[in-house]
Order: sequence, then C-alpha cells, then structure tokens
Amino acid sequence: MIVGVLKETLPGERRVALVPAALPSLVSKGFEVLVEAGAGAAAGFTDGEFAARGAKVAAGREEVIRAADVIVCVRAGAGGLRAGQAVIGFFDPLSDPGRAREFAAAGLSAFAMELMPRITRAQSMDALSSMATVAGYKAVILAAYHLPRLFPMLMTAAGTVAPAKVFVVGVGVAGLQAIATARRLGAVVHAYDVRPAVKEQVLSLGAKFVELPLEAGQAEDKGGYARAMDETFYRRQRELMKRVVAESDVVITTAAVPGRKAPVLVTGDMVRGMAPGSVIVDLAAERGGNCELTESGAIVERHGVTVIGLLNLPSTAPYHASQLYARNVANFLHHIAGKGAIDFSSDDEILRETLVAHEGRIVHPRVKELLGEA
Ligand code: NAI
Repeated sequence: MIVGVLKETLPGERRVALVPAALPSLVSKGFEVLVEAGAGAAAGFTDGEFAARGAKVAAGREEVIRAADVIVCVRAGAGGLRAGQAVIGFFDPLSDPGRAREFAAAGLSAFAMELMPRITRAQSMDALSSMATVAGYKAVILAAYHLPRLFPMLMTAAGTVAPAKVFVVGVGVAGLQAIATARRLGAVVHAYDVRPAVKEQVLSLGAKFVELPLEAGQAEDKGGYARAMDETFYRRQRELMKRVVAESDVVITTAAVPGRKAPVLVTGDMVRGMAPGSVIVDLAAERGGNCELTESGAIVERHGVTVIGLLNLPSTAPYHASQLYARNVANFLHHIAGKGAIDFSSDDEILRETLVAHEGRIVHPRVKELLGEA
C-alpha cells in the first residue's frame, strides 16, 4: 500500500501528517511512503530525513496523488485527489458537513480524524487529544508573553515578586495541559469545569478547584464529554465566576460542548472588572469563543485587557505537533490497513466511526443527519 504525504496548502498551516521517525514502523510492515518534496520543511523536517527513514521523495504533488492508495494530511480537502483514493485528515465534518459531500462527490474514501471514538483502544490514534495538549501548553506561553507581570514568585534582593494568578475554565485535555504548564512556570492556578470528575485531576496537578454552588446535574454524557446546559445555568455560572475572573491575571478558557457553539462564560462586563494588563486566552475561539469580546484569529485589547483569540495554536509548535499527529496517523494506518488493504466491509468501531464518505456516498450516520440525508 502506498501512503502519500502532501505538503499542507492552508495558509499558516505548518504541520505535516507524517514525520521521518514515524516511517520505519510503517515501512517494516510493508507500507511504501511517498512524500511531496518540502512537505515537512515548515515543521523542521527535511526531505533528506524522510528519505533516510525509508520514504521516497516526489518532486511534485501530482506524482504523489497519482501513485498513492491513501493520502494522509493534516487538513484534508478533496481538491486534486483521485477517485478511489482514501484520504485521512482533519475536515471537521460535524461543523462543516458540506465538505464531506465534496469527498463523496469526488469518489474518495474520507476518514475524519476528529471522529476518532474515545475508547481505550483508540487512544493512541486520538489526534484531537494530541493537538489539545499542544494548544493548552501554547495558550499559557502566549499568556505569559503578553502579561506585563512575571509568572513565578521571585524573592530577590530588590524585593519579592508575587506569583501570577491563572484561572483555567474548562478542564479537558487542553485545560489540564494549561494547568500543568502554568504550574511549571510558577503561577498560582485555579480551575473550574462543569464535570465534577475533573476536581481530583485539578488537585493532582497542584491547582485549586473553584467550587461554584451550581447544580450541574447530569453534566457529563456517556462519552465523558460535557452536555450543553441551558442559558439560566450559564448566566448563574457567569455571576459566580465574576469574582474569580476579576482576581485573576490570566484567564484561559477551553470550555466546549461537542457539535455546539462554545458557551459564553466571560462577558464584556467581566472583562471590564479585570485589572489592566490582564490576559485572556480563548481556546474556544474557533467555535465562537467563551469570551464575549474574543475576535476569532486576532489579539485585541479591550478595557485594558489583552484578549487572545488566535486559531490553530498547534501549528505554532509544528515540530512536536507533527510528531504527535504522525504517531496518531501511523497507528491509525496500522489499524485500518495493517493487512495491506483497507477492509471497508469491516464492522470495526474505529473504522466505522471515522469513515465519512465512501464510494460516492456519505456513510456516516451523524454527518448524513446533519446534511438532511438520514
Ligand atoms: P472538550 O474540548 O470538548 O471540552 C473542554 C472542557 O470544557 C471539558 O472538560 C468540558 O467538560 C468543559 N466544559 C464544557 N462546558 C463548560 C462550562 N460551561 N464551564 C466549564 N467547563 C465546561 O473536551 P476534551 O478535552 O476533548 O475532553 C473531554 C473529556 O473526554 C474528558 O473527560 C477526557 O478525559 C475525555 N477523553 C477521553 C479519551 C479517551 O477515552 N480515549 C481521550 C481524550 C479525552
């Protein structure tokens, strides 16, 4: 089976779907890997390194597409690909189901990495978690850079510097990494999540869990994700969080409910209550934002507070983001094509849950439903 690695075309996307270190395990199992020249350059991987680990380097995109049975990418698009080919990557079929239709129309078999089921067996293929880890880390680094204060407590001959106060709202994968990173930099960290199970994890990282007298009821669905709450709940949550937000130097928000717009948890009024120079990093910016004043893709100053709504933070650490993503992709390839071909008739949960388009049709029930084809 020939695996093609394309250079990403989305502006600003610096990651690559496979890295040299991920190749030997694939090559030893009979996969051939064909890499478009320069595909890894923006992430820090040279063509020479790919070749040294067993890949063939192709001069152009067309050559890769012509030869490959399966194309692996970070951001998958149907453009230019060949009917009958399989493609693996991110394409957000739950938020942008129209894109899924393009894959079907082009006769491609498209696998969405976003739809990886959250089961133990699939953990090593869970690219959303890998990328959330990078984003959580980067959110803290950005906040530290923009904050006019230092993070750690310092005792110097010139006096004592008090540690920064960081509040993390939403403690999933990104939130946990944000807590750990802020703690490593010496900040005092508070965190809150609607899922009560999170409290123990917050404490184990040396942060404090903010107890809000809120009746979250069934906050968690059976997949371990947060459920959507009603507006009364969010209003009460904002009221209760207002004081914690006002007392924080940095607020990092990551609160998301799968398939929905992110809930607004920090209003303009709450931002006005923060000290000048404070920083908000809104990791939910891609899904509408947790802060009312977030501008998607931008860093803005509002009421003296820096509000960061940058998108695609994983791409700002492309070397390691690619390394983690490549491992997820390689494990996925071993799983679905380890026997030399993809068995589309298989009822394996991992294959069924990630396959969106096949043989000219949308085959994923949830995406079908979103497109009104159910
Ligand atoms: P996510 O990106 O969907 O959401 C981030 C966090 O925001 C979640 O913890 C959610 O509870 C929280 N949130 C939602 N509404 C909120 C509100 N109003 N206020 C405060 N917080 C709010 O979540 P992510 O990071 O993708 O993971 C969610 C869960 O999935 C976690 O329990 C995690 O342990 C689990 N998981 C399981 C995996 C597996 O079994 N293979 C792999 C990765 C995650």
